[in-house]
Amino acid sequence: MDAKELIFERHSVRSFSSDPIPKEALADILEAGRLAPSAQNKQPWRYLVFTESDKIQKLALNCGLIGLSNFFIRKAPCLIIACADTKANLKLNGQDYYLVDTAISFHQMMLMARSYGIESCWLAAFSEKKLRSYLDIPTSWRIVALAPFGYPAEKKSTYSKMVSSFAGSDSRKPLSDIVQFR
Ligand SMILES: Cc1cc2nc3c(=O)[nH]c(=O)nc-3n(C[C@H](O)[C@H](O)[C@H](O)COP(=O)(O)O)c2cc1C
Repeated sequence: MDAKELIFERHSVRSFSSDPIPKEALADILEAGRLAPSAQNKQPWRYLVFTESDKIQKLALNCGLIGLSNFFIRKAPCLIIACADTKANLKLNGQDYYLVDTAISFHQMMLMARSYGIESCWLAAFSEKKLRSYLDIPTSWRIVALAPFGYPAEKKSTYSKMVSSFAGSDSRKPLSDIVQFR
């Protein structure tokens, strides 16, 4: 898969087959996150990786998914929680860069996953408070995102279709709205 296909054909996937992710693929996915650029090379990202179905199912019940809307994660063969250590932060112009750094790193992991045919979906609708207490996550870490990773199911679930149409997932603003050539 070339870079164009990797990026232009990417979309959030919310229905997964139960096939596990091969070890080599998972190793490359994590390496892609590790090698990401970060402000002053602070590398604030910290990842919690789950590959056991019973743990993932329990997590889905205990992460305070908003309105249970993200309950589909229980069926994914792999779930990764992206955290950021606020102690490894660079502050510039009043901006904290740990979130930017972690987002870059996590997205690199998602794109690496695609090169193996493994898809994912970025999730922010969870309760940081519940998840922190359930997993005993240090108070100096922010929980930035969760993402299920897996091979797409042959048939999309009704939920997946509903969210995609609700979120207007296929539409993008035109370049003229977002780019200014100066
Ligand atoms: C920061 C962030 C948070 C998101 N949170 C959720 C979420 O909680 N649940 C969900 O189903 N999708 C979530 N998404 C996926 C978006 O809905 C999706 O990226 C957007 O609609 C564009 O669709 P696409 O990814 O298929 O191109 C999130 C995406 C981002 C970047």
